[in-house]
Amino acid sequence: MHVACIMDGNGRWAQRRGLPRIAGHTQGEENLAAVVRLCVARNVDYLTVFGFSTENWIRPRKEVRHILSLHKRLFGRVKELNELNVRVSWIGRRFEDPAARTPRFVQKAIRQAISDTSANTGMTLTVAFDYGSRAEIAEAARLLHDRGLQPTIENLAQQMYLPQMPNVDVVVRTSGERRLSNFLLWQSNGAPIHFTANTWPEYSAEDLDQALALARRVHSS
Ligand code: FPP
Repeated sequence: MHVACIMDGNGRWAQRRGLPRIAGHTQGEENLAAVVRLCVARNVDYLTVFGFSTENWIRPRKEVRHILSLHKRLFGRVKELNELNVRVSWIGRRFEDPAARTPRFVQKAIRQAISDTSANTGMTLTVAFDYGSRAEIAEAARLLHDRGLQPTIENLAQQMYLPQMPNVDVVVRTSGERRLSNFLLWQSNGAPIHFTANTWPEYSAEDLDQALALARRVHSS
């Protein structure tokens, strides 16, 4: 089972409480750690989360800096992830891509977390950072073109950032938004989308169980 989450509504969660938006992101990172535990308890094989998109760079500098520091915090949860037998993975614009924007300290945190959890055999937690589906698909097409290969479905699939990642079984979007926002468009072909009115910091076991039930219904139909 592969669950992919668009973690929306951190800002709104904070605003409703009279807190600055960055407090919502902090709470979002805390809840992500809780959702990872929940997914492990539910035997989810792959959890992929949209941590930072190719479009998010235009946010205010202070907010971007805060979100980047939260990624460092998340990738630093190695002890917790090892206890849960969770393997860390990352999806996004390849660091050597001239358009890539992942700063060095985040690259380092990503590499370190991947290597420190590589022996784990349980759930794979993939963080999408500096990720956008259109850039991914366009880059795949460019690589095929440069190698003189046809842009068939099979060839394109092999050029995605993580060709081994299985297709998504259910996409989750929180906070009442009903959009896909350039997230795993290739990999989530045919997957149902579970919407919840809860913001990401409020995302609960009940929400997750509804999403898993939706995925199972679609699978068996
Ligand atoms: C949406 O909230 C969330 C993001 C822009 C992504 C950042 C996610 C986190 C910081 C959660 C922790 C995750 C990681 C991987 C460290 P929003 O600001 O769009 O909320 P709004 O729509 O209410 O303004």
